Amino acid sequence: MSKAQLILALDLETFEEARLLIDALADAVEIFKVGSQMFTAYGPFITRYLQSKGKKVFLDLKFHDIPNTVASAVKSVVGLSVSPTKDLDFAPLFMLTVHTAGGKEMLEAAAKAAQTQAKALGVARPLIVGVTVLTSDVQDAGTQERVLQRARLARESGLDGVVASVEEAALIRRELGQDFLIVTPGIRPADASLNDQKRVATPQAAILQGSNFLVVGRPIIQAASPREAAIKILEDIKITCHSRESGNP
Ligand code: C5P
Repeated sequence: MSKAQLILALDLETFEEARLLIDALADAVEIFKVGSQMFTAYGPFITRYLQSKGKKVFLDLKFHDIPNTVASAVKSVVGLSVSPTKDLDFAPLFMLTVHTAGGKEMLEAAAKAAQTQAKALGVARPLIVGVTVLTSDVQDAGTQERVLQRARLARESGLDGVVASVEEAALIRRELGQDFLIVTPGIRPADASLNDQKRVATPQAAILQGSNFLVVGRPIIQAASPREAAIKILEDIKITCHSRESGNP
C-alpha cells in the first residue's frame, strides 16, 4: 500500500483566511480539501488559487441527485482541471466526492462522466470517492454493515474509493483489497478536541487500519500555530508509515 497522505480541510469563512493558511503551509501540505463552505462563497476562484500553486484539490461537494444531474456536475468538476491561461503551471483537480446513498445508477453515471470528460478535455481524470456514512453520525449496530455495503457498491460502480471512518477502514481494506482508496475524516491527534466528530482516531490508528488519506480540519486550522500542528501530524504519518513498512508497527 502506498504511503498515507494528509489532506487539509479548508473549512474557513473568507478567502483571505484560506490564502494565509495555504501560503503558510505551502511547503508542507500537498492536498487541500475545498468543501461546500468555501466553494459556495468563492467557486473556482479558490480551487484555481490552489491549482496555480501546484496544489492538489479535493473538491468535497458530496453530490447526491438524479444520475443526469450528478453526471453534469462531475463534468463541470473535470472542467476545473483546464488551466485558464496556457503558460500557467496548473495542477488538475485531484479528487471529488459523490454520496453512495445516491445508488448504483448515479454512481456509475458519475464515474462515466469523469472518464468521458477527462478524455474530451485531455486532462487527468480526478479520483472519485463515495461518502458512506458521515463520521458525525452516531454509530449503531448496523453502521459497519451499511458502510461495507456502500463501499462494495462504490467499487462495483467504478469509483476509486470511499470516505469512511477509521472504525470501518480495516474491514473495507480486508474486504475490498489493497487498491481501493480509503479517505478518513475524524482524525484527532491524541491531545485534540473532538468537536462534533463522534467516530475519531489518531493519525497513527487511521493508517494502521488501512486509510490512504487522512482528512484533518479543525485540529490544524484552529490550532494556535496551524503550521506546527500540520507538521506534527505529518511527522506522525511519516513515522507510522515507516514503521509499518519495516514490519514494526
Ligand atoms: O474539522 P474536522 O477535522 O472534523 O473536519 C473534517 C472534514 O471532513 C470536514 O470538512 C467534513 O466535511 C469532512 N467529512 C467528514 N465526514 C465524512 C466526510 C467528510 O467529517 N464522512
